[in-house]
Amino acid sequence: MYQQPLIICHRKNTIKQFKKIVEDLKIVVLISGKGSNLKAIAKECSKKNVPARIISIISNNPNASGLQIKGKFKKKVINDKLYDKKCFEFRLQNYLAKLKPDLICLAGFMKILSSLIIKKWKNKIINVHPSLLPSFKGLKTHERVISEGVKKSGCTIHFVNETLDGGPIIAQGSTMVKKNMTVKELQKKILKIEHIIYPEVIKLFAKKKITIKSSKIKEKTPITKKRKKKK
Ligand code: GAR
Repeated sequence: MYQQPLIICHRKNTIKQFKKIVEDLKIVVLISGKGSNLKAIAKECSKKNVPARIISIISNNPNASGLQIKGKFKKKVINDKLYDKKCFEFRLQNYLAKLKPDLICLAGFMKILSSLIIKKWKNKIINVHPSLLPSFKGLKTHERVISEGVKKSGCTIHFVNETLDGGPIIAQGSTMVKKNMTVKELQKKILKIEHIIYPEVIKLFAKKKITIKSSKIKEKTPITKKRKKKK
């Protein structure tokens, strides 16, 4: 039987798919825990108008529940309990070098990367931090925000450089800290903002709308959370 048209159709699809693969922003997401930001990023990347795709997720924690996410990407565990920092990063770097991602997204990745990785992937690593940087760098941010009576908090997406939570800021989202708010309530509120701004930043990267030159974001796009006014 003559099947040429079928073959042509197949080839066309292959070319289309190939083009999409070539043009997509290749993302690797590093997690340590729940992975709710990872899910929000994966959802954004699944949209047709977003030229980005997650090629792999990496966890330093074999029990991270975020690893249960389903998708067409590789899942890699590099258990940091089994290696010293140097060896852990050596393995991480080897894996990243094979994947050659365009962007590395730290999403609740609770390990500090040394200059070995940061230099190799200069201006290609971004992170989400649950405070309005440069305030409240480090851990237990919500606890400190509440105990210091700060009125406004939020989250920041920033480039990762060699200073802890200190790289150039790409986007921030803020919220008021209500009187008597608990740490859990504040964490939940801020996480919801993270789930909006992190995917939004990735979309801007995918559309080549964010560039960095001598530690300055060239096209800093204000990403604000739209809120309905209470009547
Ligand atoms: C997020 O709130 C993120 O900002 C924070 O961990 C949480 C991870 O949640 N990251 C840091 O504290 C990094 N210093 P997730 O695993 O559900 O995405």
